[in-house]
Parts: sequence; structure tokens; C-alpha cells
Amino acid sequence: MIVITTPTGQIGGRLLDILLDLAPARGEELRVVVRDPEKLPDAVRARGDVDVVTGSHGDAEVVDRAFAGADAVFWVVPPTPRPPSLDALYLDFTRAAAKAVTAHGVGHVVGVSALGRGTPVAGRAGLVTASLAMDDLIAGTGTAYRALACPSFMDNLLRQAATIRDDGVFTDIVSADRRAPLAATGDIAAAAAGLLLDRSWTGAGEVPVLGPEDLSADDMARVLSEVLGRPVRYERRPLDDFRAALTGRGATEALVEGYVDMMRAKEDGLDAGVERTPRTASPTTFRQWCEEVLTPALRA
Ligand SMILES: NC(=O)c1ccc[n+]([C@@H]2O[C@H](COP(=O)([O-])OP(=O)(O)OC[C@H]3O[C@@H](n4cnc5c(N)ncnc54)[C@H](OP(=O)(O)O)[C@@H]3O)[C@@H](O)[C@H]2O)c1
Repeated sequence: MIVITTPTGQIGGRLLDILLDLAPARGEELRVVVRDPEKLPDAVRARGDVDVVTGSHGDAEVVDRAFAGADAVFWVVPPTPRPPSLDALYLDFTRAAAKAVTAHGVGHVVGVSALGRGTPVAGRAGLVTASLAMDDLIAGTGTAYRALACPSFMDNLLRQAATIRDDGVFTDIVSADRRAPLAATGDIAAAAAGLLLDRSWTGAGEVPVLGPEDLSADDMARVLSEVLGRPVRYERRPLDDFRAALTGRGATEALVEGYVDMMRAKEDGLDAGVERTPRTASPTTFRQWCEEVLTPALRA
């Protein structure tokens, strides 16, 4: 039995698709934990062979039910806009699950986490520091654990689809010319599926998902312009402007500063600690992602 959290999310949803294709032939049963089963795709609900546990995977009673009889769990801490602290966001959300992993003897857990472990800035990287602490909490249960060590997602750009389409601009707080890895969520889901189906691994460790190349914001603007056939530029936002915008949308100070610290750490090499090799690279190029994911989203 493989348990999937966030089956309506970017990574969890794609993972569910992959496992629905591959798991039955391997005799693997699937269970999803979802707050609102109505949000699952019709095709999933129609199948009848996916066990559905209703509730938030941050709740003790829910994970206790969900992890009973589980061989493996796919774990994602959901992004929440108003956490009182970064520890509350990642660690407190995961504590009940860690207890349930132990209580039910879950053998393998695959979690979505971030690049940065072992770099000099890992301890002051805001959201990433908290995510790495979450990995330690899960690994501390003694289950076999793999953290998917991710850079920024290409899919983050979907949040700026409207301004890319209408104004030909996207923004962030990073330098325009700093190159860094970038991964597609589909590739992260594929890496998770591989680990969940072949559970020959033991102990704790990370599996980097680096994407095929490092790109700067200006590189991304060039590719976007070529794919969309019209100019798209990157605009670096002043920090105070960025803070005010996030706060205006209801984000807590902890979240805003956690993001700013993470982006500063990225400027200082947070994502540069892992070498890209055939094992750590993932296949989807930014150009391919723009063609296959962004372009249809802009038309929608
Ligand atoms: N974005 C990046 O660049 C980046 C980089 C590295 C790591 N990460 C990590 O990636 C993870 C996010 O993955 P994603 O993009 O696949 O997520 P996502 O698409 O934003 O999905 C969020 C999921 O969480 C669920 N959810 C929201 N609040 C919840 C709650 N209180 N209780 C239970 N479920 C809840 C949502 O379900 P509903 O349908 O019920 O709303 C949805 O399935 C985060 O842990 C983040 O730290 C992100």
C-alpha cells in the first residue's frame, strides 16, 4: 500500500497519475489523503480501486487512519499562507505523521524537500532550513527516508501567468544573471514514483532533482520570448516592495522573512552544493516546460 499526500497538488497529482498507470500491475494498492475528495479527478473517483482517507495529513487522527497498513508514504508539507512560524509550517505539521510512521511501522517515506543540505548557508535559508529540519524529523523515526532535494520549481512561474501574458514581464527578488538549477514538478513526481515503486533502498538520504541545466532569470526571459513569440523580460523587485506585496496578500511575517532568507541564501550558493550528473539531473528543459505547461496555461 502506497499512501499519497497532496493528491490534488502539482507534484502529488502528477504522482497519482503515474502510480495509477504503474502500481496495479505491480500489485500495489494506492491510498490518497485528501481534504475534499470532490477535488480528485473524476477518473480517479470513478476507478474505485483508490482508497480515500478524508482529512488533512497534518491531523493526528487522519494520519493514524491513513498510515495503517502502509508500506510507503509520499509526504508533502502543503504551502500555507499564514504560518505563525517556519517550524510550525514544516515541523509541527509533520509531527503527527512522524508518530504515525513509527506506530504503524511504515517502511519507506519519500518527502518533497529542498536543495541546500551541507552548504554553508543551510542554517539561515528560511523555508529551506525548516524543510531540512522536517527531513531530519522523518528520518529520525528510523524509517527508510529519501528527501527529494529540489531547486525552485519551473511551475512557480504559473503564478505569474497573467502578467507574462498581459504585460510580458515576470518578477522576483533574485539577480537577473545568477544561474541556478530549476526543476519541473512533473520530473519531481517521476522521481518520487521511481522511489515508491522500487523500495530496495534503505537508511536516510536525499535524491537531488536538478533539472537539465542552470538558468538565470534573464535566460528564462529569453526562452519565454522565443517560445511565446513576443518579448518577455525579467524585472527584479526591490525587497521592500516584495515584502509589502506578500504581506498585503495576508502572508505572516514569518513566511515573508522565510522566503526572503531563502532567496538570499540562494544568491549565496544554497542550490550549488550538488553536482549535476546523470543521476542528479532531471530531463525536462525549461523550453519544453514552457511549450507543454506554460503555453496551454496562458491560453486557458
Ligand atoms: N515551489 C518551489 O519552488 C519549491 C521548491 C522546493 C520545495 N518545495 C516544496 O514543495 C511543496 C509543495 O509542493 P506542490 O507545489 O506540489 O504543492 P501544491 O501544488 O501547492 O499543493 C498543495 C497541496 O496541499 C494541499 N493542502 C493545502 N493546505 C492543506 C492543509 N492544511 N492540509 C492538508 N492539505 C493541504 C492542497 O490540497 P487541497 O486541494 O485540499 O487544497 C494541495 O493538494 C512544499 O512543501 C514546498 O516546501 C517547493
